[in-house]
Amino acid sequence: MNPINMSGNLPPLVPHIFDDIYRAAIAQVLDDGSPNSLIGAHQFCGSERDRTAGARFAGLRLPQVPPADRVVVANGTQSILSMLLHSLVGKGGCLAIEALSYPTMHQFADMFGFRLSAVPMDHEGIEPEAFEAICHKDAPSAYYALPTLQNPTTAIMSVERRQAIAEICRRYGVAIIEDDIYSLLPHDIPPPLSSFAPELSWYILGTAKSMVAALKVAYLVAPNAEDIPKLFWPGVRATYWMCAPINAAVASRLIEGDGATRIIDAVRTETRERHALVAARFTGADLRSMPECLHVWLNLPEQRPADKFVAMVSSLGVNISPSATYAFGNGTPPNAIRFGTGTARDRATFERGLNAIIQAYHS
Ligand SMILES: Cc1ncc(COP(=O)(O)O)c(C=O)c1O
Repeated sequence: MNPINMSGNLPPLVPHIFDDIYRAAIAQVLDDGSPNSLIGAHQFCGSERDRTAGARFAGLRLPQVPPADRVVVANGTQSILSMLLHSLVGKGGCLAIEALSYPTMHQFADMFGFRLSAVPMDHEGIEPEAFEAICHKDAPSAYYALPTLQNPTTAIMSVERRQAIAEICRRYGVAIIEDDIYSLLPHDIPPPLSSFAPELSWYILGTAKSMVAALKVAYLVAPNAEDIPKLFWPGVRATYWMCAPINAAVASRLIEGDGATRIIDAVRTETRERHALVAARFTGADLRSMPECLHVWLNLPEQRPADKFVAMVSSLGVNISPSATYAFGNGTPPNAIRFGTGTARDRATFERGLNAIIQAYHS
């Protein structure tokens, strides 16, 4: 039997809601005009309609809907990151990063030849004093920020912390690359870090964690319209960040109507149901998450090293990730593991996976 994947943190499938909404959106796109003219030419930053929809989507989080000419439509958050990191950091440059963060940043650093400067964290995310010291010492040109339901720790920066970090970025001229991908499932969370320093911020809101993993549509809001053509045109690098027009158009229809929010609501509901199963099993454990989070961060007792724990869970047929997967810098990562709540394809499978983790935890 294939192992149960609880190492990834994709949103759960919600076919009872998604399928009809998606079918209707794609039919609408095909009925709206000539498919040949839709896909007849490259759209480097997205069509006017798609950029407007992206602005509206970003407006679900930003204090105001940004002007469409500040939006780039791309085929995923990773593509946007690759374009930004190449231009804003580049060979020999330095990127400030949370000491535990999105592992793919290691590959970007290798690929583009920049240094990573890991910023120590507390329960909210990066610590202002430590960040300022790093800005002083390493002069990073950008900070990759995951301030909301941080990957992997699930930390959420308070408004005060966001203000403090934005102020430091302003003082040292550090660009903010904010990846807000986990922010649409929870309610009542602080506004994006970017809203505290919009002139420095490259704000990314992908659909991969709130709607469905492989829609391949993400939106970037740039600090101003003028910088976009410098960073996003094919001559910049031999790479393509552009969305297939059909995907962009379907996402636009979902955003223009209520399809996107209905899908997000369904993902949120399923995620909460799965968290109820977690809460019922892990009473007393030192775990961090919230009911709308796609991953859980479980601190382990000292005598249970994370790598051995992961191996034991794996022997029970379930994949999860040790903290070392997410570690940057030279510090010893905390003794913890991350497991995803959404990747198991249905609730029964998730429950089986959870039972294996709890069995290992109590053994
Ligand atoms: C923080 C973060 N950003 C981006 C992504 C990937 O987004 P996309 O599939 O749109 O490239 C992930 C996926 O794990 C992620 O954890």
